[in-house]
Amino acid sequence: MKTLIKNGTVITAEQTRAADILIENETISQIAEDIQDEDAQIVDASGLMVLPGGVDPHVHLELPMMGTISADDHYTGGKAAAFGGTTTMIDFVSQEPVSLAENVARHRAMADPKTSIDYSLHMNITRYNDEVAEELPDLPRLGITSIKVFTAYNGRLRLDDGSIFKVMRVGGKHGLLTMVHAENGDVIDILIAEALAAGKTAPIHHALTRPAWGEVEASLRAAALAAQADSPLYLVHMNVSGEVDQLAYAREHGVAAMGETCPQYLFFTEEDLKRPDGAKWICSPPMRKFVDQEGLWRGLENGTIQVLATDHCPFFFNGRKPILYEGKEIAIPGKELGEQNFTLIPNGLPGLADRLPVFWTAAVNSGKISPNRFVELTSANPARIFGLYPKKGTLQVGSDADIALWDPKKEVTYGVEWARHRTDYNLYEGWKLRGYPTKVFLRGKMIVNGQEWLGEAGGGRFLHRLTGEIL
Ligand code: URP
Ligand code: ZN
Ligand code: ZN
Repeated sequence: MKTLIKNGTVITAEQTRAADILIENETISQIAEDIQDEDAQIVDASGLMVLPGGVDPHVHLELPMMGTISADDHYTGGKAAAFGGTTTMIDFVSQEPVSLAENVARHRAMADPKTSIDYSLHMNITRYNDEVAEELPDLPRLGITSIKVFTAYNGRLRLDDGSIFKVMRVGGKHGLLTMVHAENGDVIDILIAEALAAGKTAPIHHALTRPAWGEVEASLRAAALAAQADSPLYLVHMNVSGEVDQLAYAREHGVAAMGETCPQYLFFTEEDLKRPDGAKWICSPPMRKFVDQEGLWRGLENGTIQVLATDHCPFFFNGRKPILYEGKEIAIPGKELGEQNFTLIPNGLPGLADRLPVFWTAAVNSGKISPNRFVELTSANPARIFGLYPKKGTLQVGSDADIALWDPKKEVTYGVEWARHRTDYNLYEGWKLRGYPTKVFLRGKMIVNGQEWLGEAGGGRFLHRLTGEIL
């Protein structure tokens, strides 16, 4: 099967050029001006930009949490992602008390039959001992080249600093990138106990009990541990200006440190948690202040931050009331679980579908970020860092034909209907966006055509990743 995308403007991280793209089966076979091929099905991209499909390296699908489960699975999450121009996502494997290989096998058994776009996995390391140390080097054989550790969630997910150091030291030797969730778990636990004892149960106390200084301190601690362990480091969901400063410091001092931020931290503040529906904005780490938004934008513009991910982890706002999803009623317990107590509100929010169109409107239309840097932050860099490049993240001969035809003039009043996440709200409800994908291809197959969904459960594949690049 051949498809010829004609008359578009091809945008990669490196260049912008008027060119046609010929797709044969699943990959790109030619990129040139005025390609002719009588056997190919023609897709006219006049007036459109031709972007590599987005790569979102931070999503949580069907994640059990706080008495419920994140509301998108690998089918519904992948579908929403595709409508927003993303064709690859990386989810996390929780470390249950079985071997790492068994954890991965179980996760894949759940995800492989459902996934509607290509996906891979990071391994959470939340329990460390000699057995785990012996199993870590085996992860690359399973296609997994990144692990996540936590400096918060005491008694559940957190590893002590010595264990993080050991994980990094083993990981660094065996081609694994350590991702760190950087908050101060001890301080958070003290502040939460004090807040609850004082009857402070509203959503804003979620932010107030997780102070920004904890992240500044924990991100520098993570960088120092990585330096001492001779390991690369990736700071996830950076939300605080001071964290960007620590990342810059680490990079200036030769640490192989990189990081991501997420759209929610660029557009919202802790003031949103004071709204009557403030629970919608609860995630960890929390929304911060305007000055933090400024620091994050600076980091994206000057290259200190390499990636814009989502940390997509959606819950219903009101899980008592069903929504219609593909014609069927569905309700999943969500934020209402914490109506009386912020500590019971599931942490996380939707974002997979929103990332590209929202960021394009705010970053590219305003002139802050060029279309090439947009591709770099949302597709090329995550593909490079997580060992998927140039199969994913670019448009080259031999790359997978994962392509978003992007209409920079298309105007949309955005919200829950457009996003298609399997949840009942969207953070960007009513936002006027300009710039939106009109057709999306996954390995040469059109899976989104305007408002039409052509993808399917199992249409995506598990991606075996290689050790990534240090950027
Ligand atoms: O609130 C969030 N972000 N939930 C997902 C888990 C995590 O730490 O990324
Ligand atoms: Zn995290
Ligand atoms: Zn996360």
